[in-house]
Amino acid sequence: MNTIRNKTSILFIATALLALLLGMIFGILSGLQYILPEFIKEILPFNSLRPFHVTSVIAWIILCAVGGIYYYLPNSEALRLYSARLLQIHYFLFLIIGLAVYYSYFTGDFGGKEYLEFPPYLMLPILFGWLLFGINYYKTMVGKIRNWPVYYWMWGTGIIFMTYHLSEAYLWLHPEIKNNFIKSLAIQWKAGGSFVGSWNMLVYGTAIYLMAKIKGDDSIGRNRKSFFFYFLGLTNLMFGWAHHIYIVPTAPWVRYVAYGISMTEWIILFHMLYEWKKSLPEETKIKNLLPYKFLVMADVWVFLNLILALLFSIPAINFFTHGTHITVAHSMGTTIGINTTILLASVLYIITKNKPDINLSFISKGFRIFNVSLLLFWLCLLAAGVKRSHWMYFTKGIPFSEMQSQSHWIYVAFLLFGTGIFIGLLVITLPVLKTIITTYNLKGINENEHP
Ligand code: HEM
Repeated sequence: MNTIRNKTSILFIATALLALLLGMIFGILSGLQYILPEFIKEILPFNSLRPFHVTSVIAWIILCAVGGIYYYLPNSEALRLYSARLLQIHYFLFLIIGLAVYYSYFTGDFGGKEYLEFPPYLMLPILFGWLLFGINYYKTMVGKIRNWPVYYWMWGTGIIFMTYHLSEAYLWLHPEIKNNFIKSLAIQWKAGGSFVGSWNMLVYGTAIYLMAKIKGDDSIGRNRKSFFFYFLGLTNLMFGWAHHIYIVPTAPWVRYVAYGISMTEWIILFHMLYEWKKSLPEETKIKNLLPYKFLVMADVWVFLNLILALLFSIPAINFFTHGTHITVAHSMGTTIGINTTILLASVLYIITKNKPDINLSFISKGFRIFNVSLLLFWLCLLAAGVKRSHWMYFTKGIPFSEMQSQSHWIYVAFLLFGTGIFIGLLVITLPVLKTIITTYNLKGINENEHP
């Protein structure tokens, strides 16, 4: 086994996996309340469970992407991390903030807005953590490596834009914006969309990094297509939010351009993953079986989400889908199908590099359960969305409760397949967590292994 440098990066990944498991438990509890509205309502009502779920799964995406970057720089690039101490401070800071966020949700102390519903003052230490990450990243990289491959640019810009857009997401605290509904809504969606674009920079950068490393071909990170993808992603990050705000009065051409850019970005990502898969020799696939499988799965989900987004972004269709579970199918389809699968590919790449004898067949079973459940789960969300839209626009006089009870079996199936996703991911992550605990001996983090 190789010596691991910067074990704290592995702590980031282990914590991310725990946030994923916890997040899914909150998701299942929320799903249970679709069917049994009174279930644990007194302790955890739906309006608490939802932020618990969404914040946990966002924490999974961000912590895992960040942990991967901290790991890859010194371990596979033979770079020396600028400061192992800053990395530790970053980790413990995020851990404490995470606990504070859970505590605030549990005690009903909200105060933020959609996706960031915790009290606004907690954003200050979060921004400080991103600052530490930025300092460590740039101090490690600048002047040490020439001719950066695209994934270094993606990670570097992801960090800067994340810091900027998280700050922007709190502009609504300013009285002038707070008192102007349209301005406040537009800024909130703009910042929210760019926040997602920033984590996509970190995650898609990881996907390209993995493609280059698995194939052993650095040109993947340096060719024109990759850089075109990067600039398109950057434009999308800055302007792509416009297609999220159909209800805000903006000039139509702004939305169409934004929409075109985000669809093209996905087409290119799909094409890159597809070409990479085609060009891989059979023995390389077998040698990197798990990360390979997950990257191929991500490609399938880019394709499925592309079709869905192409359809529901047509204004005439969007009119009927807005505010239904079709939007939830889009956000869960992308965060699970694309982000989560790429990040699991990254975790499994790291783990199998350090412990090649991990139980492959067990994890492959989990992969199959996850795959099938996710597809059926997604179809249930689409079915629930169509049902709600039909009720909203094509029926009259049917009360909400009756429509909900007509959708009962769709929600039961949704819950069943959601539990399937949980079981699949549990089967995948438990051996990984066990390996992390035994192999990396996290009880005594010793950054002195740093060369
Ligand atoms: C990797 C795992 C998961 C991720 C990344 C994820 C992500 C998300 C996101 C981003 C949302 C917000 C949707 C929106 O605002 O449009 C959401 C909502 C939700 N998720 Fe998940 N989810 C995951 C797993 C699950 C599972 C296993 C269940 C179990 C049934 C579940 C149940 C729900 C429910 C009930 C909502 C609320 C939908 C509503 O507002 O009515 N999620 N999830």
